[in-house]
Amino acid sequence: MSEEKNITLVITRQDDPESEPYKETFSVPYRQNMNIISALMEIRRNPVNADGEATTPVFWEMGCLEEVCGACSMVINGEPQQSCTSLVDQLEQPIHLEPMTTFPVVRDLAVDRSRMFDSLKKVKAWIPIDGTYDLGPGPRVAETKRQWAYELSKCMTCGVCLEACPNVNSKSDFIGPAPLSQVRLFNSHPTGEMNSSERLQSIMDEEGIMGCGNAQNCVQVCPKGIPLTTSLAALYRDTAVESFKSFFGSDK
Ligand code: SF4
Ligand code: FES
Repeated sequence: MSEEKNITLVITRQDDPESEPYKETFSVPYRQNMNIISALMEIRRNPVNADGEATTPVFWEMGCLEEVCGACSMVINGEPQQSCTSLVDQLEQPIHLEPMTTFPVVRDLAVDRSRMFDSLKKVKAWIPIDGTYDLGPGPRVAETKRQWAYELSKCMTCGVCLEACPNVNSKSDFIGPAPLSQVRLFNSHPTGEMNSSERLQSIMDEEGIMGCGNAQNCVQVCPKGIPLTTSLAALYRDTAVESFKSFFGSDK
């Protein structure tokens, strides 16, 4: 009879937001084409660590299971990424799983990404519509522009770009590249551009565009391939123009 092949996972765990993190090792049966989530589900099914001791099931978050919701993001072998699309066969063992450090830990691998959603509120990352009545068809958008905007709209607020950015840390208020890129998206919309000044004004400080140090890590890690550094460069220009406009007291 052939011997069962196992995979080893070293997981950074934390029982609650206040407690100290610790590492626990697990050995789970290998199956072909396993992703990290299926390995975690195996631990949940049989919460016994590599020393054979019964333990609590490892806690993590997931939603779509197809790299759309961003909820399953964690640091896998040192790289922030989604655990639903991270395949065991492509990872060196033992596989190290850690929560992202940019966000407060809720429990084990689950973090609280509220700061990203708060930032989206701060930059008004929406198109304001006055009422819910039928407004008729919106302005037409050229197909090339629609395709371009679609790329920016793929952001799933996963937080991986914040995790990779050296300027997003406990000593800085920088909101990070993802919400800034959404300013560019909403300012480019024919209706959204009516509030472009307001959005640009909201990112002119150290929390916004001035907090970027151009490390360029964000664009390398974004799983959606969003051109974050291009967005940031465009926003530098747009905020500079906005400053001139406010200095000279003109909206045009
Ligand atoms: S820009 Fe990319 S890495 Fe950053 S939150 Fe959005 S999808 Fe995630
Ligand atoms: S579960 Fe939604 S991105 Fe992985």
